[in-house]
Amino acid sequence: MKNVLVVGSTGQIGSELTMALRQRLGGSHVVAGYIVGCEPQGELAESGPSAVADVTDGRMIDAVVEKYHIDTIYNLAALLSVVAESKPRLAWRVGIDGLWNILEVAHERGCAVFTPSSIGSFGLETPHDHTPQDTIQRPRTIYGVSKVTTELLSDWFHHKYGVDTRSVRFPGIISYVTPPGGGTTDYAVDIFYSAVRGEKFICPIKEGTRMDMMYMPDALRAAIELMEAPSDRLVHHNGFNVAAMSFSPEMICAEIQKLLPQFQMEYRVDPLKQAIAESWPDIMDDSCARTEWGWQHEYDLPRMTADMIEKLHPRLCP
Ligand code: SER
Repeated sequence: MKNVLVVGSTGQIGSELTMALRQRLGGSHVVAGYIVGCEPQGELAESGPSAVADVTDGRMIDAVVEKYHIDTIYNLAALLSVVAESKPRLAWRVGIDGLWNILEVAHERGCAVFTPSSIGSFGLETPHDHTPQDTIQRPRTIYGVSKVTTELLSDWFHHKYGVDTRSVRFPGIISYVTPPGGGTTDYAVDIFYSAVRGEKFICPIKEGTRMDMMYMPDALRAAIELMEAPSDRLVHHNGFNVAAMSFSPEMICAEIQKLLPQFQMEYRVDPLKQAIAESWPDIMDDSCARTEWGWQHEYDLPRMTADMIEKLHPRLCP
C-alpha cells in the first residue's frame, strides 16, 4: 500500500491534490504536510493525518517520512513567480534548498518524488509557438531559475542515485477552490471571481498575450498519472510539457461573456507581470507526455469556463 506525503498541502495545488490522493488511496495513507501558520482546515484536516513538514528543515522531513512509512512525496512547496521576484532568497531557500532536503531523504529512504516545474522555466529565447520538450531554457525570473534547477537537480538525483524523480511543467492552474497567490497567471482565476460577482475585471495582462493554462482536475490527474506511469515507458523523467488550453485575456473574456453577457473587462497592465508573461510560451508541445505516459487533457476553455462559473456561483453568491 502506498503512503504519501504532500508537502505544501494547504497551498493552491496541494489542498486539492491531497484530497484527490485520499480519495484514491484512503485518507489514512496521505499525510498533509504543512508549515506553522498554514494549518489544514475543514475537510483537509479531518480526512486524514497531517504533520508539520517544513522543506527547509531536512531532519523534520526525515522524521515525518519515517513516522508514516512514506514511499512517495509530492513536493509542492514554492513561491509563485511575482512574489518570488520580491523575495528571491526565500524563493531559493524553499524551492531549491528545500528540494535538496527532500531528495536527500528520498535517496536515504527509497521514496519517489514529484516536484512541479512550470512554463516559468522557459524564457524569451525559447521558441514560443509549440515550445518543444527539449529546448532553450534561459528564464530571467528567480522563479524560472529555480524551476530549471528543480528539473536538473531532480534529473541528477535520478541518474546519480536512482531516485525515482518525476515532474511536469505546469501551465497556469485555474481552480475555484484555493486561490493562487502571487503568480503571473493569477488573472485567469481572478477574472472568474469578478465575473461571478458581477464586477468589472481590471486585467493586468495586455491584450493578445497568450499563455498555457490548465483546469485543476486535469492538473491533479497529470501529477497522479505521471507518478503511477510504468518507469520503463519513460524516456524523460522531469520537466514534461503538459498542455490543455492556451488563451489571451480577450479570449477568456469572450468565453465568459457567452454565459454572462453583462461582464466587462478593462486593461491596466502591470509591467512586471507583462514582462514575465511575454517571456513564457504561447503554447507548449506536450507530445512527449502524451506518448510516454498517455497524458490527455479533458478540459478546454469552453468546458472549464462553464464549470468555473457553475461552481463559483454558489460560493460567491449564496
Ligand atoms: N502559475 C505560475 C505563476 O504564474 C506559473 O507556473 O507564477
